[in-house]
Amino acid sequence: MSESISITDNRTGESIEIPIHRNGVDSAEWSKLLPGIWFDDASFGNTSGAHSAVTELDGSAGFLRYRGYPIEQLGKECSFLEVAYLLLNGELPTREQLASWEDEIREESTIHENFHKRILEGFRDDAHAMGVLVSTVAALSTFFPESKDVEDPSVRRKQIVRLIAKMPTLAASAYRRSVGTPYVLPDPDLDYTDNFLSMMFRPGDSEYEVDPVLRRALDLLFVLHADHSQNCSTTAGRVVGSSLADPYLTVSAACSALSGPLHGGANESVIRMLEEIGSYDQIDSFINAVKAGERRLMGFGHRVYKNYDPRARIVKDTAHEVFDVVGKNPLLDMALKLEEVALADDYFVSRKLYPNVDFYSGLTYQAMGFPVEMFTVLFAIGRTPGWLAHWDEMLSQDSRIARPRQIYIGSPERDVQPIDKR
Ligand code: SDX
Repeated sequence: MSESISITDNRTGESIEIPIHRNGVDSAEWSKLLPGIWFDDASFGNTSGAHSAVTELDGSAGFLRYRGYPIEQLGKECSFLEVAYLLLNGELPTREQLASWEDEIREESTIHENFHKRILEGFRDDAHAMGVLVSTVAALSTFFPESKDVEDPSVRRKQIVRLIAKMPTLAASAYRRSVGTPYVLPDPDLDYTDNFLSMMFRPGDSEYEVDPVLRRALDLLFVLHADHSQNCSTTAGRVVGSSLADPYLTVSAACSALSGPLHGGANESVIRMLEEIGSYDQIDSFINAVKAGERRLMGFGHRVYKNYDPRARIVKDTAHEVFDVVGKNPLLDMALKLEEVALADDYFVSRKLYPNVDFYSGLTYQAMGFPVEMFTVLFAIGRTPGWLAHWDEMLSQDSRIARPRQIYIGSPERDVQPIDKR
């Protein structure tokens, strides 16, 4: 039996055989037989938009691998910058390569003083951190005009380092601005995640010791969020990047897509949902509202995983390690009960709805002292290497500008009537 499909256009009786290659069939072959007939797949649920070697995930088996390495091993054995190197270069770094990579990132962690003196000062006091991040990442584009030469691999690499290095500085600066405390600049003596926590929470010039458990937990959370193949925000980045837009505007677009509550904004929505439910005795009525289609169980469900999200397991375990240090998040018991009730209810079981990466991550971030508005920003910091790995991979291939077709359902041709006759 050949690895192929045969399709017949019953209008003409013509047939064509198309090979099945790497779980895909080439749409160009399809179009030879059926010009003008498009795959109707509005949310790309059954469509491949990329050939990628970065990440593999299997929704049924419930595995996630970055460049072939299982997420469970990477989470245990590697730092976030080590994993970022892997995603971008395809191989784990040697000790020397990692040291040089860390130095490159450290050297690029500062931002122009205009961000602190002018740009950030222009936002309202209650500006949401994601709105600030999307704006300031895009603003970086204006400080590095040479970044527009995206077809030069050396230009791409320089901007990749800058973006990974500056995301924590932009994020921490947005937070400090929102709480009215003086900005803390990157400390060259600290590693990536320590530096971010210092820029976030160091009280002025006084000494600030990061608890190693919290630092390790946050670094692990960054690893877990580092990539996830063709998710909504990565796809947004690939589409914008396909027009040869510069990487800052490309990543800003990815950040915008991530901000939605169906995607990276879910970690914030989970906390607000738990707070709204308020108490155990309200869980059943909330679950009933979900089953009636009136509410969504945020942090549950996934387009690909029809099994427990492998990251959610690790996040759940990490949460307990953090709570052992900073005290249990009072919402944890509510979340555990909600998971227990949902996983015993046929509405969720029949739809294969399980906790995803966002269900427990917010509880951990909140316990670590991050405000809810920062949760998706933390997701963005983690996802930046993944976005950039896909952007770089796309531009290394003979990619074309993204331009999907449509199924037209509008009016047939008609004539404009003078306004008094409408
Ligand atoms: C992330 O793609 C990625 O890889 C994303 C991500 C990454 O790392 O990049 O993993 C990160 O975005 C995780 C997802 C975070 N979002 C949430 O937790 C929001 C809540 N989840 C849902 O909105 C939903 O599950 C999605 C958006 C995640 C997936 O949506 P799909 O694939 O379009 O699923 P669907 O809406 O077609 O749902 C199928 C059925 C529907 O019921 P029926 O019409 O069959 O009766 O399941 C129901 C849905 O109503 N359903 C839910 C539900 N999720 C799906 N019902 C209640 N609560 C939910 N959360």
